[in-house]
Amino acid sequence: MKLSVSGRASTAGLVTVVMLLTGGSIAGAAPASEVTAAAAPDIPVANVKAHLTQLQSIATANGGNRAHGRAGYKASLDYVKAKLDAAGYTTTIQQFTSSSRVGYNLIADWPGGDTNQVVMAGSHLDSVTSGAGINDNGSGSAAVLETALAVSRAGYQPTKHLRFAWWGAEELGLVGSRYYVNNLSSTNRAKISGYLNFDMIGSPNPGYFVYDDDPAIEKTFKDYFTGLGVPTEIETEGDGRSDHAPFKSAGVPVGGLFTGASRTKTAAQVAKWGGTSGQAFDRCYHSSCDTTSNISDTALDRNSDAAAYAVWELSS
Ligand code: TRP
Ligand code: CA
Ligand code: ZN
Repeated sequence: MKLSVSGRASTAGLVTVVMLLTGGSIAGAAPASEVTAAAAPDIPVANVKAHLTQLQSIATANGGNRAHGRAGYKASLDYVKAKLDAAGYTTTIQQFTSSSRVGYNLIADWPGGDTNQVVMAGSHLDSVTSGAGINDNGSGSAAVLETALAVSRAGYQPTKHLRFAWWGAEELGLVGSRYYVNNLSSTNRAKISGYLNFDMIGSPNPGYFVYDDDPAIEKTFKDYFTGLGVPTEIETEGDGRSDHAPFKSAGVPVGGLFTGASRTKTAAQVAKWGGTSGQAFDRCYHSSCDTTSNISDTALDRNSDAAAYAVWELSS
């Protein structure tokens, strides 16, 4: 008998024991509840960084930014969309207008799963006009993209339906994500079992913050960091300041990760996470120095792996 892609030999052994005790036939498939769900992959941080290098090049070639209504935004969207299309996603561009400029959301559906139970992960893809926006929010955008590509590479067929999103015009006030939520029918809104947000997850002087929203989503993220031996804190730098807010307002369970923006890291936080006390988590927040140099590889790696872990766990 062949168990599904379980990485845990002890659990596989337990399934066999249960089958023997219950007289289960070796020829018959084990009941689904006794088979360990497929384990989430380790996301290669080099792949995530390669996306950041591309987003930096796009900004550099387009006046130094990837802001709403500018050429660098659309080029960023085209880059992400091409990767998803090649990986087998069904992609949709949703167009809207804000401040007299055209903006776009990118939605990518992974075919299969129960479309009455949709797990979403998203990030804003726009930068401010002052810089390339590599930590804010190339980091979240690249991690969500690489998680989506990992789903394709693994041939993951979750029980629930997976949907990934890259939002436009977050920096103008959550415009793209609000547009998406406002244009969902109440029926389709009710089908979203959770929305996971990733905005600034590679801050150079990082903290490890988990949104204190839906308890099950929060626990999933905390469990991942506990397994790494990395302490977390509740995110408090600006509740409602990112794209999970419109979902939360519409009654969708939300959660997410954050490594800090302009707030200062305390001595107590340095004691648990290292880094520099008395300095901002991200000294380049909304500045021209938010480039590929403005990233903690360790934070980017841990948070990308946590994103994949949560997507797998919550959709299985
Ligand atoms: N969303 C903000 C931005 O893009 C950054 C930010 C501030 C944030 N506080 C937050 C993101 C708390 C997530 C959670 O500029
Ligand atoms: Ca990794
Ligand atoms: Zn942001």
